[in-house]
This record gives sequence, structure tokens and C-alpha cells, in this order.
Amino acid sequence: MNILVTGGAGFIGSNFIRWMRSNAPEHRIVNVDALTYAGNLENLDGIPEGERYSFVRADIRDREKMDELFSKYDITHVVNFAAESHVDRSIVDPEVFLTTNVIGTQVLLDTAKQHWKTAPDDKYSREFRGGVKFLQVSTDEVYGALGKDGMFTETTTLSPNSPYSAAKAGADLVCRAYHETFGMPLNITRCSNNYGPYQFPEKLIPLMIHNCMTGKPLPVYGDGMQIRDWLHVSDHCSAIYTVLTCGDSGKVYNIGGNNERANIEIVKRILHAFGRDESLITYVKDRPGHDRRYAIDNTRITTTLGWAPEYTFEQGMDETISWYRTHTDWMEHVLTGEYTAYYETMYKQ
Ligand code: NAD
Ligand code: TYD
Repeated sequence: MNILVTGGAGFIGSNFIRWMRSNAPEHRIVNVDALTYAGNLENLDGIPEGERYSFVRADIRDREKMDELFSKYDITHVVNFAAESHVDRSIVDPEVFLTTNVIGTQVLLDTAKQHWKTAPDDKYSREFRGGVKFLQVSTDEVYGALGKDGMFTETTTLSPNSPYSAAKAGADLVCRAYHETFGMPLNITRCSNNYGPYQFPEKLIPLMIHNCMTGKPLPVYGDGMQIRDWLHVSDHCSAIYTVLTCGDSGKVYNIGGNNERANIEIVKRILHAFGRDESLITYVKDRPGHDRRYAIDNTRITTTLGWAPEYTFEQGMDETISWYRTHTDWMEHVLTGEYTAYYETMYKQ
């Protein structure tokens, strides 16, 4: 496979590239990333450019550039991670979420269609080259929020509540339309919250770890009883590879490891790991439109594709905390002036 990995300098994308180097090194990866505040080439340290790996700085909304990359590298697969990914930022400035997450995805789909259709100018032809696939990396957040009971299945109605999840849902629907109308070979994966190394410290787990390390207050939104279904990023990567290689074209696959935790439980676990006092916890004003609970029913991917997560939460969290403890340089480098300004605005009371 010649795989165009978009957003490969971000958290999950860089973990995916590392996972591929270790588990399926025979494939060629072209990493295209615009290097926004969330993209960091240090996440890819130790992965040399060469025959099997290239990095290109570009925006997925740049049609000409995407076309050039498909031609130059004879791209056969796309794994689309590139996105604006933080709910809190989407509440402050929604527009870039729409342009990157929706239009960017459509530009990639269109470019793939032009390169992969056997008769690209025949609008009635649904024939594609063999062995090509587009994989859209989506999120469980497109389903909206759950009450106390129930889980998201692949047929749960899309009901996004934040500008971020609305933009991801929009992209999912454009993908669906390209499959239905043009016959584009594709899959959509919808994963629950990820944690692990190289996650930008605006997200819950690395933010709390960083604040524990520096003795800053831990800002818990609302009552801290919101529930997320956590999965180690490495298990997400193995699921994506499974779907890319074995997924039934046109299908959506939910990804999750049956690991629901309340935010406050996670925060306390991190505090205890650092031997810090619970008085560091500061309850702050809740996020507007805050989804109460997410939970993934992973029956389809586990039963039809045989995927299963490898990490227990305990092992994953221990490893993650010790990774951040030993990568203080990485943390310092990503905390740029832009991030500091964001943090000041976001958490001012
Ligand atoms: P991230 O914010 O860490 O990384 C996003 C990457 O995309 C960055 O490297 C950024 O530079 C790049 N990017 C942004 N806009 C771009 C553009 N216009 N053109 C090219 N590159 C651009 O995000 P993440 O947490 O790694 O998430 C990756 C994907 O996985 C996203 O699509 C997200 O919706 C999805 N997802 C994330 C989670 C999670 O818990 N983090 C869970 C499920 C799904
Ligand atoms: P986050 O990591 O932003 O992921 P998402 O909103 O995509 O689920 O947040 C995870 C949960 O943690 C969510 O319920 C919001 C909460 N949260 C806090 O309580 N305090 C914080 O400072 C942050 C960033 C998140």
C-alpha cells in the first residue's frame, strides 16, 4: 500500500505512523500535515525520511497539492486523521472546524475519486481501481450524548452537540455520499476518547498530568461526573489497520474497549500517581453543551474483524504517566506562546 496519512504530526496520526513502522513496515507512508498548533514534527523523532516514509507540509484543503501528492506517490490508501480536534476551541472559533474537517475531507475524497476511478470523467461509472481505500477517522462524539444507560452502535442516529462533533458528523456524511453516489471504497471508524504518548496538553489526561507536575490547579468542568470511554492510542491504531485491510467497504466501525470512567476518577488517579493532594482539584464552570456520557458498543469490529484491545486501563495509564514524566522536553516544546495565551483565556475565572 502507498498510504497518504493526513494529520500524521498530531497525536493519533504520529502514533499510527510509529505503530505501522513496528507492525507493518512494508507499506509506504506519505505524511501530509499543515503543522497547526497541534502538529509537531518532534512526535515523529526517530522516523527517518526515505523509501518508506516522507513528510510533506501541506493543507488538506489545498486541492492542487493533494492532486500532486496522489500522482507523485501513486497513493492507494488514505487514512484521514487531519482535523481540528478540540471541543473547547470549537466553542470559541467554530469556522476552521468546518473548513478543515468538512471541506478538507471533501477535497481528499474528490482527489481520490479522480485518481482511483477507472473512468474519472464518466459520472455513471462506479468502477474503481482494485486495492484502493479511503478511511475516515471519525469519533463517537458524532452520536451525541448518552444518559445513564445504553451504548452507541453504528446505527445510532447522528446527533452532534458541539461545533467539533458537528463538523466530524458532516465529514462522515460526505464520506457516506461518496460511497453511495460514486461507489468510493471506504470505511468510517468512530473511536472513543484516546490517551497515550504525544497527546497535546489541552486534552484532559495530559493537561492534568502537566498541571500535577507543575503544581497548578486541576480544572474539572462542572461536577466531574461526565463519563468517557477511554482507549489506549495504540489499540486505536491496531483497529484502524484492521479496518483498512479487512473492513467491508461502505461500513462504519465503532472502536472502543469497554472502559467507561468518570472524569473525576481519572483526575484523582493522576493526582495519586504524583502523590499530590486533592486540594489541587478546582471545579470550574462547565463546558457549554457538555456531553454527559459516551460509551461504545464494539460488537461489530470485535466479532466480524476479530479486533481486540491489548491494553488494560491500569497498564495504559501507568505507562502514559511515566512517558510524560520522562518527556519533559517534549512538553516544554509544545507549550508555545500560542498555547499559553489559549490557556490563560480558557481557564480565566
Ligand atoms: P490532533 O489535534 O492531535 O492532530 C490533528 C493533526 O491534524 C495535527 O497534526 C494538525 O497539524 C493537522 N491538521 C489540522 N488541520 C489541518 C489541515 N487543514 N491540513 C493538514 N493537516 C491539518 O488530533 P488527534 O487527537 O490526533 O485526532 C486525530 C483524528 O482522530 C481527528 O480526526 C479526530 O477527530 C479523531 N479522533 C480523535 C480522538 C481523540 O481522543 N483524540 C478520538 C476519536 C477520533
Ligand atoms: P477532552 O480531553 O477535551 O475530550 P472530549 O471533550 O473530546 O471528550 O475532555 C475529556 C473530558 O474531560 C470532557 O468531559 C471534558 C473534561 N475536561 C475537564 O473537566 N477539564 C479540562 O480542563 C478538560 C480539557 C476537559
